[in-house]
Order: sequence, then structure tokens, then C-alpha cells
Amino acid sequence: MAQPQFSLRKRLLLWLVLPLLIIWLLSAWWAYQISVQFTNDAYDRSLLNTAMTLSKQIIVSHGIIIAHLPKMALDVLNEDQYDRMYYMINRPNGDLVAGYAGLPLPTILPGPNHHIFFNGQYNGIPVRVVAMTVIPNRYHPKRKVMVELAETLVKRQLMGREILSGLIVPRLASIALTLLLVWYAVSRGLKPLWRLQKEVASRGPQDLEPINILDTPNELVSLVEEFNRLLIEIRQVLAARQRFIADAAHQLRTPLAGLKTQTELALRETDPHELRQVLLLLHHSGERSVHLVNQLLSLARAEPHERKVSFAKLDLLLILREITGEWVPKALDNELDLGFETKIDGPAYVWGNEVLLREMVSNLIDNAIRYTQGGGNVTVHLDRQETNWLVQVEDNGPGIPREEHRRVFDRFYSILGSNRGGSGLGLAIVQEIVQMHHAQVMLESLPEFYGTRVKILIPCYASHD
Ligand SMILES: Nc1ncnc2c1ncn2[C@@H]1O[C@H](COP(=O)(O)OP(=O)(O)OP(=O)(O)O)[C@@H](O)[C@H]1O
Ligand SMILES: [Mg+2]
Repeated sequence: MAQPQFSLRKRLLLWLVLPLLIIWLLSAWWAYQISVQFTNDAYDRSLLNTAMTLSKQIIVSHGIIIAHLPKMALDVLNEDQYDRMYYMINRPNGDLVAGYAGLPLPTILPGPNHHIFFNGQYNGIPVRVVAMTVIPNRYHPKRKVMVELAETLVKRQLMGREILSGLIVPRLASIALTLLLVWYAVSRGLKPLWRLQKEVASRGPQDLEPINILDTPNELVSLVEEFNRLLIEIRQVLAARQRFIADAAHQLRTPLAGLKTQTELALRETDPHELRQVLLLLHHSGERSVHLVNQLLSLARAEPHERKVSFAKLDLLLILREITGEWVPKALDNELDLGFETKIDGPAYVWGNEVLLREMVSNLIDNAIRYTQGGGNVTVHLDRQETNWLVQVEDNGPGIPREEHRRVFDRFYSILGSNRGGSGLGLAIVQEIVQMHHAQVMLESLPEFYGTRVKILIPCYASHD
């Protein structure tokens, strides 16, 4: 069994799960960023508050800036359980007034009574810093100082991790749950497909009943309809085959029964002259049987579902000339004048199967010779009619009555009283071959034509035009 190219379930799951995962990841990242931003803002505000409290301890006394920081105030800076705080009070020229020298400096100095937050490092440890420019005494606006308060990031990092785990754990659970739901939904959604597969798989070769369309979801209706149409076609082909086999067996029975009787007769015959007569009859029956079997084989070859037939570019003129030549001895035996006429001087190309086309023309010439009385004429014509070649096989025999025109194309049909050892398959074979070549066949006979004229219009080979 051929391996499937892909699984519908896998493809559906992939298309559902991948976008969902991407959406989850993006939304988790976004939620994390916002939460971290909010907590950072809160910590920043608290850092700023402490820095402001600190800045209030700076005074200008006799024109000199003094940071009056009582121990209690400094203890506040280090009472945090996780983080350490460092402060620094500088003059604008960079001279340290109080605090820890070497705290990171902002890239831009904040304006008077403004502040700025930034990240930096102190003693190799990452810190968050708020820097503010303070005018301690509004009567001495030129006496400015820069107050900086830095805090290590332990609390913030801890909080970040807590937010992350707080976001990820429920999200992982929801991912798992959604995956389960998607899996369940896809499996349920595909159930009608499995049902259909089961229904087809459980059938035997004889069960060609159409599939019930009522239980089928809309998306599968056209598939099921096409399948049912195919089943009907298979049923028809099988029925036609069955009929054909029954007919063929029936037709073969007559000459074979004749053969049996005649052999029995021959075995009993002692007179050599009589024996020869019986043997002649025997030979005749044998010939009929062989002809019938040959016709049956031709018909089987020309069946429309016989897709193995290979087509090629053929010269119809050559074929007609050759076949007519091949039939001349038989025509002479029957005292008939058989000829080929055409005004075409170049090749007459068609797209066809040579064996079948020869079969088709042979059957027509055979009929013309077989049913025309001695002294008659049989002529094969080739002409061009627009984009078709027109092949005509005509004779001046008894003709085919109009009411029989359709029926003579039926299988095993011979006109009553005309039986000359034919099996009634010749024109049926012609019709199959005509259909295979997208051609048309027409009969002309009494009263418009004295005799029988079979016309075949077969398309000219396209690229030849
Ligand atoms: N040229 C013709 N002139 C008169 N009758 C014809 C002619 N061609 C066909 N028929 C009639 O049509 C019938 C069907 O012809 P068809 O070729 O199908 O079968 P067949 O000739 O009886 O048998 P087969 O061709 O298989 O040997 C013939 O039995 C004959 O009565
Ligand atoms: Mg015939």
C-alpha cells in the first residue's frame, strides 16, 4: 500500500497548535514586561521618596552646603532585608559633600528640582540609581547639589522571577489543557472521515451499493457523490461484461454444437464421397467459429475502458489503400469489383491506433463484399471535409432498410434473412472504434442511395493543419 503523503490530523494539529503557541509566548512575554515595568515603577517611586527625604537634610549655612544626616536617617537606608542603598551628595563641580564616592553618574544632569533614573554598577554590583538636582535654600539658588541614591537589584530580580513563575505555571497548565481540547476537537471533527473509511473498507467486491449521503458532512458530500458515480459506472461496466460473456457463450454454442454433430456424422460415415461432404461442412463450421472468436477479440480490444490502446500519427490514405488491396482477392472470389478512389494526393494524417483502424475498415469492406451480389461494385473513398477526413465504403448491394439503421450497430444483431455466416459484431466493433477516435459513423441506404454507403468522419491530425 502506498504511504500517505501527510496526515490530515497532524496537519490540522500543526496549524492550530503552532499559532496558539506563538500567541501564548507573545502574550506571556508582553504580560511579563508590563508586570516588571509596574513593579519597577513602584520600587523607583519608593527610591525617589527616600532620596527626597535625604535631600531635605541638606542645608546651606553661611553659604556652605552641609548634609545633616542623623544616624537614624542613615539607618533607614540599610534597614531593607534584601537590598543595600548607597547615597552620594556632590557639588556641581563633582566634589563630594557626603556619602559614597564613585557611584555611577547620569549621562545627562537633571535640571534643578528634577530627577532621573538610570541603571549602573557600583563595586561591580548592578544598581538602580535616582539622581536629582537640589537647591537646598531657595535664597541661594546658585548653591546646587546633586543627590544620588543607588539601590542593589535583589528585590527587583526576585520579584521578576516570581512574576515569571506566576505567569508561566498557569499558562503551561492552560497550554496543556488547550492541547488536549484541540486534540479532542480534531479527532471528533475527523470522525466522519474514519466512518467513511470504515464503510468503504468493510465492503466486499460485490457490494457496489452507493454510500448513504445523509450521514455525510457537507465537505465530504461531493467526494461521496463522485465515489457513488464511480460505483454506478463500475456496476454498468460489470453488467455489460456479464451480458457480453453470456451473449458470447450463447453465440459460440451454435457453431460448436454444429461441429460436434458434424464430427459425429463424419465418424459414422464410411462412404468417402459423403465423408468429404461432411468434412467440408465441418470446415465451414470451424471457419465460422474462428471468425466469431476473432470478432469477439476485436470487440474486447475496442472496449472503451481498454485504456492500454496506444495512439500514433497515422496516414489514413496508406492504410485504406493497403487494406483495399488486401481484400481484392476475396472480392474477385465473389465476382465483385473492389476499388479505392481519392482526390487526396498527400498523406492523410490522423491520430489513431493502426490495428483498430484497420479492423474498422476491414469490417466495412467485409460487409460490403459479403452482402453484395455477384457482379456488384464495392468502392472505398477518401475525401476531406473541413477538419475531418471522410471515409466512405459503398456498395450496390441490397442495402439496409431504414428501420434497421440503428439496430445493425447492436452486438450480435444480423438482419433476418441476410445471414451469411456473420456473427453480428462487425458494425458494433466499428462503432466502438469510431468512438475511441472521436469520429462519427453514418449509414446511407435506400431510398437516397441504391446500395449501402457507410460514412466515417474522423478528425484530421491537428498539428498537420
Ligand atoms: N453493406 C451491407 N449491405 C447490406 N447489409 C449489410 C451491410 N452491412 C451490414 N449489413 C447488415 O447489418 C448486419 C450487421 O452487420 P455486422 O457487420 O454488424 O454483422 P455481421 O456482418 O452479420 O457479422 P460480422 O461482421 O461480425 O461477421 C448484417 O447482418 C447485415 O444484415
Ligand atoms: Mg459484418
